[in-house]
Amino acid sequence: MNIERTTFSGHLGFVLAAAGSAVGLGNIWRFPYLAAKNGGGLFLFVYICLVLTFGFALLLTEVAIGRKTQQGPLSAYKRIHPNWAWLGLLATIIPAIILPYYSLIGGWVVKYFTVLATGNLNNATQDGFFGGFITAQWSPIIFHTIFFAATAAIIYAGVNKGIERISKILMPLLLLLVLGIAIYSCTLVFTDENGVTRTGMQGLAIYLIPDFTGMTFGRLLGVIMDALGQLFYSLSIAMGIMIAYGSYLKKSDNLPKSVNRVQIFDTGVAILAGMMVIPAVFTFMGTEGFGAGPGLMFVSLPKVFQAMGSVTGTVIGVLFFAMVFFAALTSCISILEAIVSSLMDEFKWTRKKATVIGSIYGWLLGIFVALGYNLLYFEYKLPNGSTAQILDIFDYVSNNIMMPVLALLTCVLIGWIVKPGTVIEEAEAGGVRFARRGLYVFLIRFVCPVLLALVFLKAFGLFA
Ligand code: ALA
Repeated sequence: MNIERTTFSGHLGFVLAAAGSAVGLGNIWRFPYLAAKNGGGLFLFVYICLVLTFGFALLLTEVAIGRKTQQGPLSAYKRIHPNWAWLGLLATIIPAIILPYYSLIGGWVVKYFTVLATGNLNNATQDGFFGGFITAQWSPIIFHTIFFAATAAIIYAGVNKGIERISKILMPLLLLLVLGIAIYSCTLVFTDENGVTRTGMQGLAIYLIPDFTGMTFGRLLGVIMDALGQLFYSLSIAMGIMIAYGSYLKKSDNLPKSVNRVQIFDTGVAILAGMMVIPAVFTFMGTEGFGAGPGLMFVSLPKVFQAMGSVTGTVIGVLFFAMVFFAALTSCISILEAIVSSLMDEFKWTRKKATVIGSIYGWLLGIFVALGYNLLYFEYKLPNGSTAQILDIFDYVSNNIMMPVLALLTCVLIGWIVKPGTVIEEAEAGGVRFARRGLYVFLIRFVCPVLLALVFLKAFGLFA
């Protein structure tokens, strides 16, 4: 049976779907706190430089592999080179590790949305609320189930009626919300009990103006490493996703231009997310508020919303968590699609069968991850010194170890084995002009592998 592959209806469909995948929890939850930790504007500058070089080369490579082979990640690599089929397995295992915990966190977002939308902002700001919720036995599983069901239903509906349609609705809405909240956040003014007045504009300055205080070479390297790690996650690189989405990109679409637009969207939303979170946290909590780390979204922000007053805070909080929900959902569907497209292409399964089997797997493993906070609780020390539960281990293994390895080996395959011409030819298909081809060759052969090797070494605490 040789049926023609489904494609996105056009350039916009691909860009919004891929941007939907890229813009996710990483942008809203991790980017602002990394920026705050790493000297604000300096982090932004380093991040943008890396997006335009390293990120561009890797993203272009993955989308090109997908479009060239017309396959999901599992079988795409063997079409590129028969001896490298195993890399396809790695590109499918990675989303299979991320999917369960991503959906679980998506469930946490739904929970917070529900709490705020039912007028219970005060509950969410109680000390121990977040810890109490995630360690409860049933509640996280129920919310994970709701989030996962939404994800699976979209994938079941297919590339056009599911992924493309939802991305075309949710992405413009997300952009409006993040822009609106960011503007509001910059207008905030607050005087604390000591009579100190802080404003959103001061917070914005902290965010945008580079802070070189105490800057050493070692610290600069730390900023670069944080930006690199974030970039991976944020652009959905090395998760099999962009290969799957690339395989649905029309041959007539301009590949480098599409990749550029996805990057602009993703980086734009990440920067706006910082403009939304950092001025608000600074206004109500001062610079100490930034110390919250990853707990920023679920622990600090509800307190910030409460400080805005109960009505305003509830409205802003509901809009905020709706926006995070849109971001998380369009990313989670892309993670499931990487798995489903692999199963469909490798085993010639129907979308229906691949979705049902992929979903049962993801849902059950998500429950296992949730139980890591109660029935299966343990404390494990990661090489970077932090204490981990199941979720953190899944995140660490995929994000810090497997993703850099996959990206590094992809660079070796394209840069040195089959040669960059494989990707360049795809980028220039249909007479498209690919202006940065010389730069691309240099990046994929030399710069990306070196940076990726550093990311990998850092994961084992061997460096920085
Ligand atoms: N790219 C997605 C995110 O940022 C996975 O969360």
